Amino acid sequence: MCGIIGIVTGKSVAAGLISSLKLLEYRGYDSAGIATLQNGNIWRERAAGKLENLEQKIKEVGVVDGGIGIGHTRWATHGAPTEVNAHPHIVDNVVLVHNGIIENYQELREELLASNAKIMSDTDTEIIGHLISRQLKINDDIEIAIKTVVAKLRGAFALAIMIKGQEDLLIGARQGCPLAVGIGDVEGHYIGSDALALSPFSRQIIYLEEGDLVFASTNSYKIFDKSHNEVTRQVNHIEVQNAAMDKGNHKHFMAKEFFEQPDVINHTLAHYIDLESNKITIDAKLDITKFDRIIIVSCGTAYYAAMVGKYWLENSTNMAVEVDVASEFRYRNPPLNDKCLFIVVSQSGETADSLAALRLAKQKGCTTAAVVNVATSTMAREADIILPTFAGTEICVASTKGFICQISVLATLSIGLGLQTGQLNQDDAIKMTQELAQLPRLINQCFEVESDVIELANDIAKVEHVLFLGRHTSYPIAMEGALKLKEITYIHAEGYAAGELKHGPIALIDEKMPLIIIAPDNAVYEKTRSNIEEIAARGGDITVFTSESRAKEIQKLGLKAIALPDCSEFVSAFVYTIPVQLLAYHTAVHMGTDVDQPRNLAKSVTVE
Ligand code: F6R
Repeated sequence: MCGIIGIVTGKSVAAGLISSLKLLEYRGYDSAGIATLQNGNIWRERAAGKLENLEQKIKEVGVVDGGIGIGHTRWATHGAPTEVNAHPHIVDNVVLVHNGIIENYQELREELLASNAKIMSDTDTEIIGHLISRQLKINDDIEIAIKTVVAKLRGAFALAIMIKGQEDLLIGARQGCPLAVGIGDVEGHYIGSDALALSPFSRQIIYLEEGDLVFASTNSYKIFDKSHNEVTRQVNHIEVQNAAMDKGNHKHFMAKEFFEQPDVINHTLAHYIDLESNKITIDAKLDITKFDRIIIVSCGTAYYAAMVGKYWLENSTNMAVEVDVASEFRYRNPPLNDKCLFIVVSQSGETADSLAALRLAKQKGCTTAAVVNVATSTMAREADIILPTFAGTEICVASTKGFICQISVLATLSIGLGLQTGQLNQDDAIKMTQELAQLPRLINQCFEVESDVIELANDIAKVEHVLFLGRHTSYPIAMEGALKLKEITYIHAEGYAAGELKHGPIALIDEKMPLIIIAPDNAVYEKTRSNIEEIAARGGDITVFTSESRAKEIQKLGLKAIALPDCSEFVSAFVYTIPVQLLAYHTAVHMGTDVDQPRNLAKSVTVE
């Protein structure tokens, strides 16, 4: 949440700040701003809304460029997304940008108000500016001032700070939110929320650790750890592909990304399965005989991936598999020990709640694994075992290819661990890997339902509520379908276990209630069909996503059916993900909402 960039090169930095903010906009787009220092002055420009508003404003008023600058793209936490609350904030000589939340902000604000501080915005960030400014008035040693103020802050944050008159000093602080330092390919130093933000300037990246402070100039930098000792941190060589920032022939990143799914499934599976020999390779540290239970924790779409994984893992290992949302898991004092295999699932690898859950599990002695897409992320660095997904950079805020890669990893894991437990034999494993190998072809066939889904989307665009239903792995897919629809169309949608409807939600059914029912031809098809008939009897407006072989029988009941390719029970979660993604996308396109950057959201949720 929120993207930050800082540049110190001694040469013009404004264009670099803007190009980096373009790469950071996925982290939030409520407002944007940049500031530079030059000849003892501060120049700053900010605008509410997307980065293009800031660019337009700068075009009109002109730039006052400098050799040092900071920039920010905001996902609002404290204070409305207005220009006054946009970063950078200036307090006397202090200019700063911030990602995260200061939890003791109210108490610090009251303290400042009591000493007559003039607070201009509703943000917690400005409070930090006042504290630094006040400290500098007591003692003008900048390092001491920063260390003193940072020690007073509670919460998770990353900061980039400049001080008026100090045109060769860029300061960064990390506590709970990611922050990286880039050593310029050509010159200077950079501070940014992630390697992507630094990619236009630097391939040599240092990931700051919790509590680290960095003081960088054009020619040097020093890092202090949380005890304020100067430390050396590892420099990583990173290649970040900017090609991902191009929509290709598509109108939206979401379309580009879901049409990439056959390829990214292939890349991800190829990391774990040798499709010639059907041999699965998983990390040697994943020895299932050491564990008596598996816990999978994640948020949002990644949580639904984890739920799909639970069905597969329980079936293939006969072990208890618990799944929880990270924001609940971390505060419910779960019993954990070294017999637990803890798996976090995260596209970004930075989600604050999932990261905290991972740390809790580590601290309590679990072996930890991260199913993660960003190989340089904090979770990838901190987990004992990395289970990478190969989705490539996902730009659209709504995850599509990230999800399909997460379930690809969980599917291979369920085969690999199933073999270890003896619950699966070689023949079962070969059959399952062969089914996975069919996926790129099957998914391409699924795209053929697009025109039917567009027709349905045109109807859905007119309604206010939608229910998605499914059983077994189609239940999390129903929830994922509902989440995708809500987040990009703002239509209220819920996903339910089809068998659960009669315990309450069936009261919602009338002829105005559209229901999308996910009913692959599997062991629970007959049960789902009974649920379909219960709803039909009450006049619900039903569309069934089902197999080619079952579609006709549904149509005979006088109901709408969209036919997906016939597939095995194991891979049906992949196949039925496609129509729910397409439905959300085409409904959003029909309604004209902002598909790639829906309101109120951000790609990387680094606050809790
Ligand atoms: C929805 C979506 C979010 C994320 C969630 C976790 O389309 O993308 O629900 O899945 O914020 O993010 P990661 O996977 O980065 O931990």
